[in-house]
Amino acid sequence: MTSLETLNLEIDGPRATIELNRPDKKNAMNPQMHRDMNRALDLIEADGNVKAVVATGKGDSFSAGMDLEECFLRPFDDPMEFYRTNKVALDWFMRIKAFPAVTVAKVNGLSFGGGVLLAGLCDLAIASEKALFGLSEINFGIFPAGGATWATAHNLPRKAALYYILTGDRFTGAQAAEYGLVNKAVPHDRLDAETDRLVGMLVNKNPVTLALAKQVYEHNRATDLPAAIDYDQAKLWELSRLTSNEWINVALKQFEKRAYQPGLKTYQRAEVPS
Ligand code: COA
Repeated sequence: MTSLETLNLEIDGPRATIELNRPDKKNAMNPQMHRDMNRALDLIEADGNVKAVVATGKGDSFSAGMDLEECFLRPFDDPMEFYRTNKVALDWFMRIKAFPAVTVAKVNGLSFGGGVLLAGLCDLAIASEKALFGLSEINFGIFPAGGATWATAHNLPRKAALYYILTGDRFTGAQAAEYGLVNKAVPHDRLDAETDRLVGMLVNKNPVTLALAKQVYEHNRATDLPAAIDYDQAKLWELSRLTSNEWINVALKQFEKRAYQPGLKTYQRAEVPS
């Protein structure tokens, strides 16, 4: 485990966990945490073996969002300082959205503003039934920024998104699952086990396939069918080449021998020649 000033990072083979570690401040993201988050992502990328990254919070909160004092109030009078402080945050927000490994938010508790953003930017998310979400920006006079409106619009249906953006009202883990912000909400004592189960389904897949599947999803949801087909055909050949045609030479050969049913599970990657 690597302890950064405001985060704990654990890399265990194909799994990494980033734990926000400012429990006394409800894991509000201060400038140090933004720097630490970039550092944690650097370390995970440098490791080269991680297929799934879980983001979670220590204590009773996932994250209370941006540190309102350290990120907004204090640097506000110095425009360059304000810009620099917040650019570090915007950098990792964009980075985590496009991260090659699959990102999973394990929403263990309070999740406000930037906490909703982080859950929304992750590819997958599981919430505790104790989790409580809110877009509190309207309550201090702004709209959700830094990608938070984008993440809300891309994860919640329109009326729900506008309701929470405009009112600052809160919603539960179960509601977050209903809207689609998280894949499921589970009793708090099942959160670790359910997250492990989800990560377990990812880590036996080919990491190149996981990364390209994410790229194809993101590209194709924002384009028309002919452009989507053009893109996925090109990506399929890129995938084939980058994986030495593993889908043909290993996966479908195993299917040909009726060694497994792809509808039910993943092929055996242990047989992949190194
Ligand atoms: N920025 C800076 N400090 C924050 C914070 C934030 N986003 N969220 C919580 N904290 C601090 C509190 O000010 C308090 O600090 P203190 O001990 O120095 O007084 C500490 O964390 C504990 O929070 P507290 O308010 O006592 O906890 P609570 O359980 O009663 O309430 C919240 C939790 C999340 C409802 C409340 O802290 C809150 O409204 N925070 C702001 C949320 C927000 O607007 N986030 C959006 C940012 S984009």
